[in-house]
Amino acid sequence: MEVIIKPDAESAATLAARLIADTLRTKPDLVLGLATGRTMERLYALLAKLHEGEGLDFAGATTFNLDEYIGLSPEDPNSYRSYMNGHLFDRVNIARENTHLPNGAAADPDAECAAYEDRIRACGGIDLQLLGIGRTGHIGFNEPLSAIGSRTRCKALTPETIAQNAPLFDRPEDMPRRAMTMGVGTILDAKRCLMLVTGAEKAAIIAKAVEGPITSMISASALQWHPRCTVIVDEAAAAELTQTAYYRWIFENEPEWEAYR
Ligand code: GLP
Repeated sequence: MEVIIKPDAESAATLAARLIADTLRTKPDLVLGLATGRTMERLYALLAKLHEGEGLDFAGATTFNLDEYIGLSPEDPNSYRSYMNGHLFDRVNIARENTHLPNGAAADPDAECAAYEDRIRACGGIDLQLLGIGRTGHIGFNEPLSAIGSRTRCKALTPETIAQNAPLFDRPEDMPRRAMTMGVGTILDAKRCLMLVTGAEKAAIIAKAVEGPITSMISASALQWHPRCTVIVDEAAAAELTQTAYYRWIFENEPEWEAYR
């Protein structure tokens, strides 16, 4: 794992956008794993801006989102499909048929999850997986006790996650209690992981995920197992990390980061 500390949420999102853009320029047929949540909104706006201003080309890209609420149709304004269309897909030149999310309204959710894994495999696997972190330490919707080898499946959401995300619904009581999510094992199979975490309310959980023991109680801690995981945090989210001097030294001195300093 490598941790990069940026001064604020804007510069953290800007670095994440640059890393994604550079990866896409290097590999125009990139298979990109995507995440939702408030943290990603600015990042997607920056990617849309790079498309508009610098011609960042999504024509050859394929995307797979981490998760979707069970019971919401893709057209539902609260679905993650609607979120993705609004924040990114409608704003760049990606072919809609190359954008994948589990269908929350599928008649057989378990079969939908298995088919989703097959679709990822058929595309050759995920090259770069973008991740946020929930207050329970989840990645995707891998709530506490998610097996580290888990694959895409249905998962019941914790009261904490419901409390975190329900305010985003017009009627908070409409928030589904279950979701389909890529498993921790599915995420660990991605060739590279990129986590973006901002804000003081994430400081405690990101410190546990990065510097604590690997535990299925905090799914994000499983990323310590991943051979190439970059975590970008802002100062507020970095507040409870203990090894910040070391992380800063690496970013300031390792040649790999020269172009991004
Ligand atoms: C949801 C998503 C997660 C995301 C989390 C963070 O729960 N399933 O993938 O990481 O939101 O949300 P926010 O950025 O709003 O804190």
